Amino acid sequence: MKTMALPDSFLQDLHSRNPATDVISSYVNLKRAGRNMVGLCPFHNEKTPSFTVYGSTDSFYCFGCGAGGDVITFIRKIENLDYMEAVKFLAQRSGLQMPEDGYDDSLSRLRTRIFEANRAAAKFFHKFLYTPEGSVGLEYLRSRGLSEASIKHFGLGFAPKNTYALNKYLIECGFTEFELIQANLAFKSNRTNRLVDRFIDRVIYPMIDLRGNVVAFAGRTLNKDEKAKYINTSDTPVFKKSNNLFALNYAKNTKEKQIILVEGYMDVISLHQVGIENTVATMGTALTREHALILGKYADEIILCFDSDSAGQKATSRAIEILRDANIPIRIIRVPGNKDPDEFLNADKQNGASRFRLLIENSGNDIEYRLGLLRNGVDLSVASQKVAFLKEAAKMISNINNAVEVDVYVSKLCKELDVEKTAMVHLINQHRKKYYREEKKKFSQKIQSSDTRPDVVNPDRSRQLKAAKAEEALICFLFNHPDELKKICEKISPDDFITDFNRKVFLCVSERIKNGSGTSLFDISNEFSVEENSRISFIVNKNCGDLQYAFDCINVILSEKNKQQLKSESNPNDDDLLKYIDSIKKGKK
Ligand code: CTP
Ligand code: MN
Repeated sequence: MKTMALPDSFLQDLHSRNPATDVISSYVNLKRAGRNMVGLCPFHNEKTPSFTVYGSTDSFYCFGCGAGGDVITFIRKIENLDYMEAVKFLAQRSGLQMPEDGYDDSLSRLRTRIFEANRAAAKFFHKFLYTPEGSVGLEYLRSRGLSEASIKHFGLGFAPKNTYALNKYLIECGFTEFELIQANLAFKSNRTNRLVDRFIDRVIYPMIDLRGNVVAFAGRTLNKDEKAKYINTSDTPVFKKSNNLFALNYAKNTKEKQIILVEGYMDVISLHQVGIENTVATMGTALTREHALILGKYADEIILCFDSDSAGQKATSRAIEILRDANIPIRIIRVPGNKDPDEFLNADKQNGASRFRLLIENSGNDIEYRLGLLRNGVDLSVASQKVAFLKEAAKMISNINNAVEVDVYVSKLCKELDVEKTAMVHLINQHRKKYYREEKKKFSQKIQSSDTRPDVVNPDRSRQLKAAKAEEALICFLFNHPDELKKICEKISPDDFITDFNRKVFLCVSERIKNGSGTSLFDISNEFSVEENSRISFIVNKNCGDLQYAFDCINVILSEKNKQQLKSESNPNDDDLLKYIDSIKKGKK
């Protein structure tokens, strides 16, 4: 596991510049809870927070899915990097220079090459727009109402019909086939074994990240028979569609406190063109929690403006859930006439922009939106329909956590529909109780099922639970009291450990203490896999007992070991017997 040694001084510096709470809070919305911070786990789907960040050990652990470890392990997991890449990532994040030698920077070199290839490709596509062959693209963009300035601002372009045009050009520029494939600009044809361009005969929309790098492209076909209207760059070493937003590089610079989220690239470009530049879109995917976290950094409120067809409504409901979970206030625009924002603006060139601004001003929040959906088609003069609507409304309102908000909507509804407030409140409370009962049940089921999952990190644990728990408590003690190592070693040696994984951890920590190396989770991170680090985090973030308790644990381990040996020694040979007697002596010391 240990590949190249990084100097201790560098690692120390890296650690002090990257406290776990600091780094993790740029991915997870953390709230203080006593000495720790808690939030919704980014590694599994949950509604109630079981993800904890511990200040004292500078590490994290999730009781829902068992993910845990130090800050490097966190980055390895969330950015899908190996140890060295994660170190590099944190170094870059905190403005620290990587040590000259002794580490492998091939990935970062590849990333740089992909950025360069993408930039060259974007220029190529843009230039091509102004050639005779590319003029279909230019005419198309103009016909959709885009100004020259907008075309330049977004660096729009056109990809030639010729299947090899781009990769031929980029190879001439000095890029390798490997780099172009990694950038997802080209792929190897199975049939001809030749490199084929990914974007062919399409209008090109480049995607720029927050640092100004070209990270991806979308290509729109002009051919009505083509199946895929848009194709997008797949995930590459520089691009993850789940955490990039089209035009956020521009939207983040506006004075607005809100960001408008729309469905399409053309919606974004048209709105920017009329001066509504706080608009972004996802890149051909539904909104993710990662998107929500990023949006939360740049806006106090998100205005959803998806298409009004049924797909758009579904997307709106999903987005509402995700943004609510991320604690971001939401408003929803419904564009009239079944139009998308781009069509709305173009339908009325004179007043489109100011009419859209009116839509923004008059947009309601997500509760109003959902109540509106519920009320659709309900005839309130029919008693049964009115009751059914109120029941559904109560169910929906019961999900709101803010008491004032609840009261506002209940009062408003009850007044409008002329019903007693207490009746509505009663309904809401019923739903709440039911919800908590279900959550509790789910939680205990989760705990039970996690107990029956095969334990890949420490497979002996379930069979030797008593001993394993004692070993873990001992390890936890040693982490917290490295200066007591000598007293511990007088009573127990690594060989006495029953489970292999715990022995390995104990050995690692005690060796490091002897050598005077650091023993924090951060220090030992490189010696273990991501899963192993998770387990160690689980072990050391428990409450740790005193020295006497550590001795008790040692006795448990030794006596469990004796029991085990007695069992297996129906026919002991002399050697084993001696070992056995020896171990009894040690235990009684
Ligand atoms: N999309 C995609 N791949 C597709 C279809 C759609 O990635 N095959 C994404 C694009 O981001 C697109 C958005 O979904 O902009 C909305 O799709 P749609 O409403 O079909 O297209 P419009 O945005 O209206 O595109 P246009 O105005 O160019 O027709
Ligand atoms: Mn459209």
